[in-house]
Amino acid sequence: MMNVVISKREIQADGIVVLDLVAEDRSPLPAFEAGAHVDVEVAPGVVRQYSLCGDPADTQRYRLGILRDPASRGGSVAVHDGFVEGRVVQVGPPRNLFPLDPSARKTILVGGGIGITPMLAMAHSLHAAGKDFVLHYCSRERSKAAFLQELQEAPFADRVEIHFDNEDEAQKFSFDRDLPQPEAGVHVYVCGPGGFMSWIHDGALQRGYPADQLHQEFFSAEIDTSGGTFEVVLSGSGKKVVVEEGQSIVQALVTVGVKITVSCEQGVCGTCLCTVLDGEPDHRDVYLTDEEKADNDQILLCCSRAKSPTLVLDL
Ligand code: FES
Repeated sequence: MMNVVISKREIQADGIVVLDLVAEDRSPLPAFEAGAHVDVEVAPGVVRQYSLCGDPADTQRYRLGILRDPASRGGSVAVHDGFVEGRVVQVGPPRNLFPLDPSARKTILVGGGIGITPMLAMAHSLHAAGKDFVLHYCSRERSKAAFLQELQEAPFADRVEIHFDNEDEAQKFSFDRDLPQPEAGVHVYVCGPGGFMSWIHDGALQRGYPADQLHQEFFSAEIDTSGGTFEVVLSGSGKKVVVEEGQSIVQALVTVGVKITVSCEQGVCGTCLCTVLDGEPDHRDVYLTDEEKADNDQILLCCSRAKSPTLVLDL
């Protein structure tokens, strides 16, 4: 983690704060790629991930757009209430779990609500590279839509389409009009609330897009902790613990004095990855690839469970 200073704070729409973070000595920050996020310590020991929404060519600042979500686990509320201009905060190096495919011939970016944030960086990057792209920004209503002025003034403003749920039908996102025919090299990227991402993803699949040309950002991944109990055995110490329904392996391990380092706690970042020595994981993360999941020799302890009665972990 490194110290950065909040150089600018702006409420851009109902419940959305936009922050500029700069190095304490104003030196360049580690570079990032479009789609990257940073870990931000929002309170002592509490780390959350936020997409970088600035221009990747600008190494002087990291820009974040954060929705105040009272229903979340408190991260966004801590940011809205406590992240004031001049405050020093800690962030991790940029990490990219949502990269653009450099071979794409045409790219369709679709941001729903606060899911616009990674799309902004992607639009800057595609524009700078001279690539063909369109950015669709879907929002419930104008007052809840941040970055509108920035998009109007962007060098790629002519590639931006904005859609509001509460305005006339003709301007709403339309699969028939806004999604090109599926062809090799046409890639779709979507970020936003889970239901919105499923809507775009499923709509594109139904129209013939292959899954490997559809890309989703999973920051708000919801963890399903249902599915019965199982036992976890730690190979190093021989400790055993039963993981109850509704409890994660991380939470169960704490009860026997084993603390696992976590970050996103949503199966997104990979921080809690652990080797499985025996047993069959029930993978519920979005970090491992399908091939890695099929190997059944790794598990994300913050969210995944077991299909077998016992899992033996390399801990
Ligand atoms: S803490 Fe991020 S995947 Fe488990």
